[in-house]
Amino acid sequence: MSSNETERLFFALWPNDEVRKHLARLNREMPVSSGKPVKPDNLHITLQFIGSVSADKKQCLLDNLQVPPIPPFSLSLDRLGYWARPRVLWIGCEQAPLGLLQLVAHLGTLMKQCDLPVDPRPYHVHLTLRRKVKQQVLAPPEDSILWPVDAFVLVKSETLPEGVHYSVLHQWPFAGAPS
Ligand code: 2AM
Repeated sequence: MSSNETERLFFALWPNDEVRKHLARLNREMPVSSGKPVKPDNLHITLQFIGSVSADKKQCLLDNLQVPPIPPFSLSLDRLGYWARPRVLWIGCEQAPLGLLQLVAHLGTLMKQCDLPVDPRPYHVHLTLRRKVKQQVLAPPEDSILWPVDAFVLVKSETLPEGVHYSVLHQWPFAGAPS
């Protein structure tokens, strides 16, 4: 990457293979006729969206990032939601784990340290399953998906002719998690 190029980045929780497969199956079997399912490989939870940044800003984030003392936690994906304006169907949780909210705040502070804008809206834990969904989806209740979260990642987003592609650039295990 040359010094005046930018990369589109975000911090995220990246599902393990088992959780990813479970989410992909749920998405495939969703009783919805409209909308475009997110590709299984792209499923994730955004913690902080960074946007397009220079190499200097990215380096600032990497140089200043300290893993907060958050123990691994379990995320229970037990709630489907629909946002009419972005036309997004998502899965989230009734009760956001404190560790997750602390992590989001911690990353927001880091971004401010690097003079990067932080979304001022309240944070809602959500994993986008489908985009361009025209109406609320009434899905049958199903068992919640239990996701053991022991790390967070920095992801690069690229728009390629075949669609959006995400690559995990860095991964930081939580304190106490096996690395
Ligand atoms: P979404 O899936 O809920 O729409 C990469 O674009 C990720 O960053 C997406 O998961 C997207 O969330 C999230 N994101 C948050 N704010 C964004 C913004 N202003 N523009 C694009 N993506 C954003």
